[in-house]
Amino acid sequence: MALVSNVVLITGCSTGIGRATAERLTRAGFDVFATARRPETLEELEGLGCRTLGLDVTDEQSMVRAVRSVVDTKGAVGVLVNNAGYGEYGPVEESSADALRQQLETNVVGMTRLTQLVLPQMRAQRWGRIINLGSISGKISLPGCAYYSASKYAVEAISDALRFEVRPFGVAVSLIEPGAIKTAFDEAGLARLRASTREGSPYKRYNDGVAKAISAAYEGAMGKMAGSPDDVARVIERAIRARRPRSRYRVGGGASLMLATRKLLPDRAMDLLLRSQFPSPARVSDERTD
Ligand SMILES: NC(=O)c1ccc[n+]([C@@H]2O[C@H](COP(=O)([O-])OP(=O)(O)OC[C@H]3O[C@@H](n4cnc5c(N)ncnc54)[C@H](OP(=O)(O)O)[C@@H]3O)[C@@H](O)[C@H]2O)c1
Repeated sequence: MALVSNVVLITGCSTGIGRATAERLTRAGFDVFATARRPETLEELEGLGCRTLGLDVTDEQSMVRAVRSVVDTKGAVGVLVNNAGYGEYGPVEESSADALRQQLETNVVGMTRLTQLVLPQMRAQRWGRIINLGSISGKISLPGCAYYSASKYAVEAISDALRFEVRPFGVAVSLIEPGAIKTAFDEAGLARLRASTREGSPYKRYNDGVAKAISAAYEGAMGKMAGSPDDVARVIERAIRARRPRSRYRVGGGASLMLATRKLLPDRAMDLLLRSQFPSPARVSDERTD
């Protein structure tokens, strides 16, 4: 029987979940290619025994080069962990179309294109695992998170169709759906939100409220429910090792509770609940002009 490559390629390993996954899988004995758009951030992982590559998921040539380099040495990428991503926050009216394009290019197009690049060899060896980082935001669109949610809803949609299409070739597709996980993710998104909120905007105080609500998910009483990057890495390892991987794995940050609430409540009741957590933009601007 021909040898099957179970080499793991992970995107976005400079920090957070990608880094923790590269560490955990390397320690567990997997042959890991950790990638980042700034390869200089991967030195420590190299010290652990990971191979490292530059890979920017918005750059076609960099994706092609990275996959070719694994295929040339190992025959195939056996496991692809599509982790790279970021959160674009802000009200729809004031968030530019370019910001939306960039969000989708990184979180959706990049993941999809990389998947296309690894599939021919996975099909040829009749074995593969594709692990996509979704989010609870792929199930619930919260105020101020429209573009990020749009990207993660798309990750859900593409993963569901892909799972059906590639199963007959021995390739399993799993979605990881984390709730709040303590990484640099939320702070980076909030910094962008602060920088893009213009003086005099009718959404100024609303944005402050959105920022407060997002921070609350990671700090204080609610933050106690937030998971660690390694909690997610552990679930990813489980999905890779499973003989029949599940289509979805939920992890951390009250993800299951939030999803159950969303399923149970009709839209009107859900909006009411959200109004108790987020300031109303209209009421805020009315207050300003009184
Ligand atoms: N943290 C959470 O609460 C949470 C919850 C649900 C889902 N997730 C998802 O989990 C994944 C990882 O997030 P994280 O929490 O680990 O955040 P993080 O610590 O901010 O890490 C994000 C990683 O993505 C990389 N990245 C961004 N744009 C890229 C690009 N164009 N090409 C290649 N890499 C790029 C970043 O690289 P740079 O360092 O170069 O920016 C970084 O390595 C994301 O898909 C996120 O949506 C996170």
